[in-house]
Amino acid sequence: MTRARTILYDCDTGIDDAMTLLYLASLIRAGDAELAGIGTVHGNIDPVTGALNTLRVLELAGVKAGEQGVPVAVGAARPMAQDVHYALEWHGTDGLGDTRLPEPAGRPVAEPAAAQIVRLARAMPGELTLLATGPLTNLGAALLLDPELPSLIREVVVMGGAFDHPGNITTHAEANIWHDPEAADLVFAADWPVLLVPLDATHPTAVHDDWLDRLAAHDSAAARFAVRILDFYVDAYTPTLRRRGAVIHDALAAMLAVDPDIGEYVQRAVRVELRGELTRGTTVWDARSLPAEDTRRPVRVAVGSDIPVFREILLSAVLSL
Ligand code: RIB
Ligand code: CA
Repeated sequence: MTRARTILYDCDTGIDDAMTLLYLASLIRAGDAELAGIGTVHGNIDPVTGALNTLRVLELAGVKAGEQGVPVAVGAARPMAQDVHYALEWHGTDGLGDTRLPEPAGRPVAEPAAAQIVRLARAMPGELTLLATGPLTNLGAALLLDPELPSLIREVVVMGGAFDHPGNITTHAEANIWHDPEAADLVFAADWPVLLVPLDATHPTAVHDDWLDRLAAHDSAAARFAVRILDFYVDAYTPTLRRRGAVIHDALAAMLAVDPDIGEYVQRAVRVELRGELTRGTTVWDARSLPAEDTRRPVRVAVGSDIPVFREILLSAVLSL
């Protein structure tokens, strides 16, 4: 762990987003991170359901949320330039593996997620790590609302994209980027430090039987909840992985945000294909060993991580709650 971060989390909760919330809750409870706020966005599910799911998970993890705690703001209900699309087959019709949890005690705040990003960035200039594990519509909207936003954010950490790895929603595109390619390209074009965590880094971290069995052996509300949502997610993932398991993508992005030493990185200017008939929503980098022609600020792209350490920290985090 390097130093405590203040995180503003943007997500589409979602099963791996929910696991990430458990991880963040463990950091908060240990005093190793602060959560300034959360925004939700269309993606795995609609953003209102995503916000209620976020409140459910934080409450279950013992973190006060809503108007009396960490503010949870509802964000964009659709992408900038295409139709909305949910991932119910991966996350269930309630976004949490059809677990049908009761209503949370807290409510979302009235402020929209993009406005919350701008307000918190202005209130804490240079302090916030903006962690995004859903489509980037709220971040893109915040950039349009406040052109000075890039100078106010410490770092943007995004789970998304695929480079030397097949896509997971089309042959080439990763879901978070494909859900709103225009917004993603705005984020990669802006002059702020970006850490991008693509499928190339997340897929090899899949958890399998041994990890799942250790989780299932633990008797706490958080562990039982994680087992229930992961049961659904594992069923969805197993045909792709060809063995029982699941990829908890978003948790790797969160972990690299607070503990960058466990990742391996390259620096590349990144663009999003906006026009390709077969490739819209694909992340593209210039990997030639020539001086970069792209004038964009290079993005730090995770290409690997210490996988046993990732799995162990995530499991310990959930078991600590
Ligand atoms: O491609 C993986 C991403 O898509 C994750 O953020 C997951 O939650 C889904 O939204
Ligand atoms: Ca997500």
